[in-house]
Amino acid sequence: MRATVAYFTRGGRSERAAQALANELGERGVDVELVRLTPTRGTSLVGGALLAALRVPSGLTHTPDLNGVDLLGLVGPVWAGSITPAMRSMMDALHDIEGRPVVSIVCGLHACTGVAARVVKALHARNAGLVASRAVGRSVLKDPHAIKDLARELCAEALQSTRP
Ligand SMILES: Cc1cc2nc3c(=O)[nH]c(=O)nc-3n(C[C@H](O)[C@H](O)[C@H](O)COP(=O)(O)O)c2cc1C
Repeated sequence: MRATVAYFTRGGRSERAAQALANELGERGVDVELVRLTPTRGTSLVGGALLAALRVPSGLTHTPDLNGVDLLGLVGPVWAGSITPAMRSMMDALHDIEGRPVVSIVCGLHACTGVAARVVKALHARNAGLVASRAVGRSVLKDPHAIKDLARELCAEALQSTRP
């Protein structure tokens, strides 16, 4: 089984969550590729924040190829009450997820459940299968044990849909 975990980070917290998710999948025998999303526009903090506030995608230097991938992970921060411009570009590239399970981790200062719910809705609109989703705040993201527990829970949820 193959998985791609695509993430965007500026300060490193989402990267740690994405890495924990990839590690957890790997421990369960999944062949995982961890892909950092790099925006082509809005690369400065102010520029990125502006695009986020306007809900405009940034473009990506490289969009992960999901051919042959059985499970998708998406991890990134909340900016201006929404997903980042880079993650918006990633979502735009997902036209049809073809029933595959998705793990979504939305990282904010606080648990931004509304943003996470909108991501789940957008994923279902793109024909995702089971979506295991969490909105997490600083208290979880600064604690390596809590991140590991989160990754374990989300993997268990997402992988149950792939068992025969
Ligand atoms: C431009 C900008 C806007 C942000 N807006 C929000 C927000 O609306 N709500 C929130 O909870 N956190 C917000 N944050 C905080 C980040 O979502 C949070 O610190 C996140 O964990 C950072 O992830 P990272 O370390 O992977 O970049 C914002 C951060 C930045 C840089």
